[in-house]
Parts: sequence; structure tokens; C-alpha cells
Amino acid sequence: MTTYTAKAHTNIALLKYWGKADSQLIIPTTTSISLTLDEFYTETAVNFDASLTSDDIYINDDQITGAAGQKVVTFLNLVRQQANITDFAVVRSNNHVPTAAGLASSASAFAALAGAASAAAGISTDLTDLSRLARRGSGSASRSIFGGFVQWQRGNDDQSSVAEPIQQIIDWPIQLITVVISDQPKKINSRSGMQNAMQFSPDYPAWVKRTNAMVQPMQQAIQNHDLEMLGHMAERNALEMHAQNMMANPAFNYLTDRSWTIINTVQKLRREGILAFSTMDAGPNVKIISDPKDTETIIHALRSSVPDIQYQIATPGPGITIQQGNHLS
Ligand code: PMV
Repeated sequence: MTTYTAKAHTNIALLKYWGKADSQLIIPTTTSISLTLDEFYTETAVNFDASLTSDDIYINDDQITGAAGQKVVTFLNLVRQQANITDFAVVRSNNHVPTAAGLASSASAFAALAGAASAAAGISTDLTDLSRLARRGSGSASRSIFGGFVQWQRGNDDQSSVAEPIQQIIDWPIQLITVVISDQPKKINSRSGMQNAMQFSPDYPAWVKRTNAMVQPMQQAIQNHDLEMLGHMAERNALEMHAQNMMANPAFNYLTDRSWTIINTVQKLRREGILAFSTMDAGPNVKIISDPKDTETIIHALRSSVPDIQYQIATPGPGITIQQGNHLS
């Protein structure tokens, strides 16, 4: 069969997905909103081949087996089931999400895999269908199908739990400065982290309510190009997500002393009139939502608190692209 290559960019949630209403289908408890990033992406080529006796999976030229390989095989099984085929596949994936950025690559990885595998298997590559499929690999991957600001509608079943674009062309100044605290894999993966918070934080149902109540105002802030309102809501929602982890039993925590130093520095910058806001995911790195014109001031302030700081700047990025053939770069 024919090889197809897909390219998908990673995304950062401004309103978080942190818990599943259905863990089999990956239906979230909250509607989430994200920004797709230009600088970090995954390219994946897939070819189903009748002569293979198992799936062959390579990430950055290394053959992947074990649990990570199994996740890909499970995903390919879904595609095979939908396409009504039994052929195994060769999957080659190149990650342009530098480990040093400490960003999760599962969003771009499963979005690209959904795109390339669907095209190669001859099933629908309609963007809503791809979002629905990508969601089954990793919840956040549902959002990486689209560019710009994206909303993953929580929905209540497989059909309705899909992402859609809110604003694809972003012609107003917004960027994310990713401050690298650690490039080590996270100790508690997002799957068990969110499950613990959901099960044991007494505040969790209220967090879900507060998050879902923020969907409309955050959409409005995006429509109004209101960085201040968007940033305030994103920071609050992220801190409240991490509070759920600290309220779990036993409590756990992704944020380190360094993360808090950065968060405090960002809050101090705000008191001085700079629009900068923090958001954090299932790891210690802090992403600072800001206006590109303030980069120098922000970096200077960060350097005074943590002198050896490492960072990467990311701007809004596009949705998935799929091409026939092997186009891995
Ligand atoms: O898609 P997953 O299973 O890696 O979970 C992502 C969870 C967060 O990154 C913390 C939040 C989000 O909405 O992306």
C-alpha cells in the first residue's frame, strides 16, 4: 500500500484537560482550550504492508518496543479495525520537539500518527475524524489536528468528543516562553496523575465546574485579543490543576522549587505592569504566555532569579498536513 507522511505540531493547554469521564474512550471531564505551537512538531510516515509479520516502529531512527511500542500498536489496531484491514505497518516518526524544551511530544506524535495511518489505510482524513481518532492515542492529541487556538469539546461519547478551531490565523501578539526546569521524563505520567487527582482530591468536582465555566470567557478573551484576560484565566486554571494534585491522597506534585521561583517571578513582573502569565503541565517546566515585545524584560527578570536559565520561544502554529509518499526531513 502507499506511504503517507503527516506533520503535526504540539500544543499547550490554556484551559486544562485533567481527568477522564471515560478512560476507555478518553472522554475528558472538562472542555479544554489550547494553542498549537509552530516550533515543535512531529513528522510520521506510515505504510501498511502485507508482507510484514508485526508492526515496525521507529522514532528518530530507533526501533521502539515495550510499553511505548505497545501504545502505537494499540492505536494501529484501532485504525486497522476502522479500515477493515489486517496488514501490519512500518511507522517512522521524527520528533522535532527537542527534549531540552521539556515539552510533551505525545500530542503532536499521536496527531501525526492518526493523520498518516488514516491516509495510508484509506480511511477518512476529515479533520474532525482525525481529531476523534487522535484523541484515542493521547487526549491532548485531539487538539493538535488544528492550528492556532483550539477547543476540545468534552462531549459525552466517542462521536461528540472532538476538537475544533477557535481562531486559526493569529494576527495579534502572543507567544509562549518555555522555561526548561528539567528535560527528564516525568515521574508520574499524566494518565496516573489525572486519575489520582480525580479520585482523591475533594475539590476535583468543583475544579471541573470552574474549568468548564471558564470556556466561554476564554473564548471571548481570544476573540477580543485580550492577552490580559486570557493569561489570568490560564494561570489560574493551571495553578488550580496543580492544586488538585496537592490535594490528592497521597499528595503529589510536578512543580519543583525552581518552577515556583519562575511562577513567583512572573507574578512579580505582572505587579510591575508586564503582561506575563504562567502555565504548567504534567512536569516542572513553566510556559510563560506573553507579548513578544516584552521578551527581553521577561528574560532579564528570569535571569536575575535563576541565572543559568534555559528557554525556548514558541509562536502560534498551523494544523496537520498530510502528503503522499515519504517526506520525513
Ligand atoms: O494528552 P495527555 O494524556 O498527555 O494529557 C495531557 C494533560 C495536560 O498536558 C496536563 C493538560 C492538557 O490539556 O494538555
